[in-house]
Amino acid sequence: MKVLVWGLGYVGTVSAACLAHLGHEVIGIDPVATKVDALNDGRSAVKEPGLDDLVNRVVRDGFLRATSSGGELVETADVSLICVGTPSGADGTLSLGYIQRVGDQIGDGLRRANNYHVVVMRSTVLPGTIRQVLMPQLEGRSGREAGRDFGVASNPEFMRETSAIADFQSPPYTVIGALDPRSCERVAELYQSIAAPLHTVALEQAELLKIVNNTFHALKVGFANEIGRLCGELALDGGSLMRLVCADTKLNISPRYLQPGFAFGGSCLPKDLRALASEARDCGISLPIIDAILPSNRAQIETARAKAHRLGAVNIAVLGLGFKPGTDDLRESPTIELIRSLWQDGLNVLVHDPDIDLTTMLGSNRAYLERQLPQIGQILCSRLADALSRSEAVIVAQDRPEFTSALEQLDPTVPVLDLVRPSRSTGGETDNNRRASWTHRALGAGSY
Ligand SMILES: NC(=O)c1ccc[n+]([C@@H]2O[C@H](COP(=O)([O-])OP(=O)(O)OC[C@H]3O[C@@H](n4cnc5c(N)ncnc54)[C@H](O)[C@@H]3O)[C@@H](O)[C@H]2O)c1
Repeated sequence: MKVLVWGLGYVGTVSAACLAHLGHEVIGIDPVATKVDALNDGRSAVKEPGLDDLVNRVVRDGFLRATSSGGELVETADVSLICVGTPSGADGTLSLGYIQRVGDQIGDGLRRANNYHVVVMRSTVLPGTIRQVLMPQLEGRSGREAGRDFGVASNPEFMRETSAIADFQSPPYTVIGALDPRSCERVAELYQSIAAPLHTVALEQAELLKIVNNTFHALKVGFANEIGRLCGELALDGGSLMRLVCADTKLNISPRYLQPGFAFGGSCLPKDLRALASEARDCGISLPIIDAILPSNRAQIETARAKAHRLGAVNIAVLGLGFKPGTDDLRESPTIELIRSLWQDGLNVLVHDPDIDLTTMLGSNRAYLERQLPQIGQILCSRLADALSRSEAVIVAQDRPEFTSALEQLDPTVPVLDLVRPSRSTGGETDNNRRASWTHRALGAGSY
């Protein structure tokens, strides 16, 4: 394939050289003459292990060259990869000035083009940038229609500086968010000889994924450093402690606890978080990430409360009371917190939880429940059907097969707020948000 790579910085030079190494005909474009000259001389303008050698080889073999302006090349090429910088703006958003300048040049090129050229965003951008900024710009400048006359896609880059070539050649996965199947197939063709799982997702999901991955990396570093600071104060070896944390690949380094859902609760997590925070205070050190976890959890309950109001019902069935199915331990259950809030707001709640039976519940468990929810005797329904038939809306707070089948049989006009699997929610919760409009316009995951 013939590929234009816009921007010869870290991402652009590595992508250009590696794609050329795969056998594509690649032209790098950058307004900085010294970068263009360096590449045409067989050198990389950025420092990266192994890159000079690779650039030298692919330039010598005629697979890669560079130029300072590329608009006129668009009609001869299959793909444009946008790899220009997106530096932080003053308000933390990503500055799109470089992308807009490239968009003008590609748009001018598309005006003259008869081929189905696919414009691929490889720079890191916030979700919506391609559909709401780049696409209108390309269409306005070219007088052509995206998805009909030219293609558009997002293909985020997961390379790390200093191991960028190896990361390109052996990525964790290839992610393509495309406007249309043709664009997706064209981008997939670029990486045909790279052995990595291919994920096709909505455009905006591909855009956001890169930023979420980096945020997760930053969170991990910050968390490990906070534990290291505390261990330092306690004269413990933080490194060996974190190695043991990582050695648990069942619960710690695993997909466990990494799905969006409802708030956490129960007898251990909130208590132990408070204990760790108090230990840090005693040691006189600050652990802002760890201190932020409980407020974040509270925000999840408050979000559920606001969404419950958007269901537009006064009588609501809540399915599940404990922090997870299979236990009658109700300590610090976030659902109890939610129900208390909804009561304060004047809503009527009925609850069904197969594990909660007031006729057999004894001792401190029962005392705790009656203290938290004094009306429990009146609002607990032993039969799921009773709770549903006496309510106008449903909140699902636990993942159970019987709740899933009840939802499947529910009158589809009854609004549902599913806290454990938010994508199953219906009714007021999903109205009028950007996600809904994107999802409707985007092709779904894995749909090619
Ligand atoms: N550096 C990384 O490791 C890395 C990894 C993944 C993603 N990213 C993202 O990739 C993007 C590029 O990052 P980078 O580190 O390569 O940036 P960079 O600043 O090193 O390179 C950007 C290049 O674009 C060129 N450029 C500017 N205007 C241009 C134009 N109109 N036409 C052609 N070229 C133009 C610049 O001269 C520069 O050479 C950013 O969005 C970044 O967040 C970076």
